[in-house]
Amino acid sequence: MYRRVMNARTLLVSTAIVLGMMASGAVHSFDEGAGVTIDYRQGLMRALGGNMAATAAIVVDGAPFRDQLSTHTRYIADATRDIPALFPEDSDFGETDALPSVWEDVERFAELSRENHDAAVALHEAVEQGDDAAIMAGFRSLGESCRSCHEDFRRRE
Ligand code: HEC
Repeated sequence: MYRRVMNARTLLVSTAIVLGMMASGAVHSFDEGAGVTIDYRQGLMRALGGNMAATAAIVVDGAPFRDQLSTHTRYIADATRDIPALFPEDSDFGETDALPSVWEDVERFAELSRENHDAAVALHEAVEQGDDAAIMAGFRSLGESCRSCHEDFRRRE
């Protein structure tokens, strides 16, 4: 009997805690709005940068992690699928290095994003096929594609 009462009370308390967490979570994401979107896209962009650096170390400098190569190129191909989706209308202010051109020249931004994804897919396919010449060419053109978007759409330090 005592045990049952305790269980009911424990259940009540833990339910209250979970509900409290859910409520504060909702308030949290409400407050942060654009901030969390910006954090997410910058984190994703840094992950792209990290995977490009790891790819360069293997492909250009011969780091002995060839068996990891397709993990890196697959991530880049997957994560570049829809870059414009990372830049919704209300995320153009605050701690962002995105230039206003992202929201002004929407078509060009989308076009560069598509080209980038195509280049990433081509690189990943070359890796899957083990075609060294195509891997090298694919890596270079992907890098150029990342840079050409940053040139027009990202604030320089
Ligand atoms: C279609 C345009 C576009 C493409 C393609 C693109 N980026 Fe970016 N990138 C941006 C913009 C815009 C920002 C600034 C985001 C912000 O500060 O909100 C950015 C930011 C970054 C950052 C800085 C993140 C930070 O911590 O602030 C890195 C690193 C980066 N990109 C790497 C890459 C790499 C590597 C590729 C290619 C695999 C790539 N990007 C492709 C537009 C692009």
